[in-house]
Amino acid sequence: MSFIKELALIKRWIDFKILGRVKDQRVFVLDNFLPEKEFTHIKNIALQAKEEFFREKSSFRSGAALGLHELKKSTCSPIVDALIKPTILKKVQQRTKIHNLKFVSPEDRNQISLLYYRFGDGIDWHFDGNIYLGQRWAGIYTLHEKTGERSKLELEINKKMVTFKSLSNTLILFQADQIRHRVKTLLKDEERLVVNLLFSPNPEISKNPIFRFYQSMVNKIFYGKTDR
Ligand SMILES: [Fe+2]
Repeated sequence: MSFIKELALIKRWIDFKILGRVKDQRVFVLDNFLPEKEFTHIKNIALQAKEEFFREKSSFRSGAALGLHELKKSTCSPIVDALIKPTILKKVQQRTKIHNLKFVSPEDRNQISLLYYRFGDGIDWHFDGNIYLGQRWAGIYTLHEKTGERSKLELEINKKMVTFKSLSNTLILFQADQIRHRVKTLLKDEERLVVNLLFSPNPEISKNPIFRFYQSMVNKIFYGKTDR
């Protein structure tokens, strides 16, 4: 059974990357995601920790990232507690109407990560990889974005570029392996602090060595670690 799912994952990759067939281009914008008080609480924790914890030494990607395992050991652990719980998952399921959505396994450091960007940081247009047998839904939850009128997150939906207004306390959900996206380079005095969450209706990990290798390289770029 999982062999068939492995083949389906390869087919999805070929359809999209080689044949250029457009897949699911849905984007969900869940505004006012947390109650204001809770949102402010975790935002302040992240803002206080940003200088202390975030490394700047990645030679591949500018900016800084902390994955689940590092977050749990840090003063930012309340952010994990506030977001990785059944009531949050239920809220996402209800507002997206994708009722079988699940968090990916806590073994995967991408289940939740905290990303900090400042002057000169950004990621050029790209697709994420997918090591899961089910769809891979990235949830970008913005804690703080001091970047002028428009969001720095840009998506290419049906060949049109889409940006957003202020994204504070908003969760954007999309399949990042199906929708091209970028984080536009931050200008002087700009700052962006976001939580990335990862969901899948079937968070079973592929055994395909190529997809797994790609993911370990992405982990190296983001967190300086090659394991999950
Ligand atoms: Fe991405």
